[in-house]
Amino acid sequence: TTKSAPPPALRPGWTRPRAAIAARTLRTDRWWFAPLITVVGLGAWVLYATVRVFMHKWYWVEQYHYLTPFYSPCLTDRCVPDSSHFGTFLPSWWIIPEAALTLPFLLLFRLTCYYYRKAYYRSFWLSPPACAVPDGHKTYSGETRFPLLGQNLHRYFFYLAAIISLINTYDAILAFSSPKGFGFGLGNVILVGNVVMLWAYTISCHSCRHIIGGRLKHFSQHPVRYRAWTLVSKLNARHMQLAWITLGTLALTDFYVMAVSAGWFSDLRFIN
Ligand code: FES
Repeated sequence: TTKSAPPPALRPGWTRPRAAIAARTLRTDRWWFAPLITVVGLGAWVLYATVRVFMHKWYWVEQYHYLTPFYSPCLTDRCVPDSSHFGTFLPSWWIIPEAALTLPFLLLFRLTCYYYRKAYYRSFWLSPPACAVPDGHKTYSGETRFPLLGQNLHRYFFYLAAIISLINTYDAILAFSSPKGFGFGLGNVILVGNVVMLWAYTISCHSCRHIIGGRLKHFSQHPVRYRAWTLVSKLNARHMQLAWITLGTLALTDFYVMAVSAGWFSDLRFIN
């Protein structure tokens, strides 16, 4: 057989010219709304989280052992003694967050997440802002070069995020406490709700789905992995929603701990 040349669209370095349409886009719907709301939502969250992380106070409720996830695990030598479960070996310079060993990896986990990639490529980078709307840039190299090539590391950040979710779970369990021993309040409902949602988000990760059910030739020979993959797949279909819900539960949990810790209002107690 003779080998024919690849079609133009598959030739290296070939870029397809745009059809000769004068209008910037023919879409008449509100295609700009999703990118806009994404910029507002993510921007507001990052601003809140940055302020809180460098506030260095109101992260721990001594009475009920509530610790905000933004400061977990608390590792600087300014940490209130009981709030630190893994030692306080980091110096207390203001530039070092209390959770300096976990926050960078959580950030990288979210930054390289398949959903967030779509969200910020569209909204912040306009590449492209929506389907059938031209790219905001002249050239497009996808994720084939540095630094976006690093997005491939997501699968490794998944393992680290799972360990951090375990630490958050540990914090939520330790928080069932009061000066009299066992205790249960609204703070516990919020902390546990946050941890459940964090697990749902982490497990719904595309990398997790591949780890659980990828590379199998016959599901029938791996019934346990098949069942787990089916569950993960169901959650995976909700990954975008879980990404936003967890941003909400993280901010709510942090705000609640801050408010109780600062004395703005007291915890609603059900037991002790
Ligand atoms: Fe979103 Fe992995 S794909 S967390």
